[in-house]
Amino acid sequence: MSKLGDKNVLITGAASGIGRLMAHKISAHGAHIIAWDINAAGLEALRSELEAKDRKISTYVCNIAERETIYATAQQVLDSHQVVDVLINNAGIVQGKSILEASDEAIIRTFDVNTLSLFWMTRAFMPAMITKGSGHIVTVASAGGIVGTAKLTDYCASKFGAVGFDESLRLEMQRQKLNIKTTVVCPFYIDTGMFAGVKSRFGWFLPILKPENVADKVVKAIQRNDQRAILPWTVKLIYPLRLLPVGLADGIMGIIGINRTMDDFTGRQGNH
Ligand SMILES: NC(=O)c1ccc[n+]([C@@H]2O[C@H](COP(=O)([O-])OP(=O)(O)OC[C@H]3O[C@@H](n4cnc5c(N)ncnc54)[C@H](O)[C@@H]3O)[C@@H](O)[C@H]2O)c1
Repeated sequence: MSKLGDKNVLITGAASGIGRLMAHKISAHGAHIIAWDINAAGLEALRSELEAKDRKISTYVCNIAERETIYATAQQVLDSHQVVDVLINNAGIVQGKSILEASDEAIIRTFDVNTLSLFWMTRAFMPAMITKGSGHIVTVASAGGIVGTAKLTDYCASKFGAVGFDESLRLEMQRQKLNIKTTVVCPFYIDTGMFAGVKSRFGWFLPILKPENVADKVVKAIQRNDQRAILPWTVKLIYPLRLLPVGLADGIMGIIGINRTMDDFTGRQGNH
């Protein structure tokens, strides 16, 4: 079990949404939060909130779409804190446009933030974990990393990449007998504003999730060293659907309404 007390826990995208909530929850265990975000004002607000509760926090403004900026900021963190015990790659963006509506630049940025940053963050912080003999790398992917949806080609492809990254990293850690745990998180839509306007046809079956509940479950999954957190559990039913002929599986997904969830999307569209 990864105990969170006295650990250095780095969270990307900590200024908002579930990143911010996880910073609150994890700092309550006594961890030192190393909060990264591109949003300087949001980071300052988080710092004030945590310091008012006598929690430990350091903040770093960093655009994780830029590899060199990640490496430079990571060096500052390592100079000050020596090691990151738990790395939570949480920052993410969505454009919410169909393939021809999205610009080339927006598509590239989706992959830079949602997928490629996982590589640069891990490569920056893993060596110190190896030296210490322990570590934990958390990938916040999405249910969109297990199943595709209209108007999310770049997002889903980037999150499929994130799921594949986590799985291969986990197996590489096992193969190299390294004591570095991994957790991948695949939630359905969460009510943080990122995906504002999305609808679930059968809310009792696939509810839009409450940010507090998701943050609670992710923190528990980290503490238990769960390798996968899929929320809600009904998302797991996608796996057996994969065994069916594609037309039949698409038809069932159509009845559930997955492919229409983005019809009324008004969310962040690459803004944060
Ligand atoms: N909200 C949902 O419905 C949902 C569903 C499944 C998965 N997720 C995933 O959960 C994670 C958190 O989402 P959220 O709902 O809390 O979103 P959010 O928009 O509230 O928070 C994302 C944070 O990431 C930061 N960020 C964005 N681009 C950045 C960059 N280039 N560099 C540094 N920071 C950057 C933003 O400033 C923001 O603080 C994301 O990876 C998202 O893809 C969200």
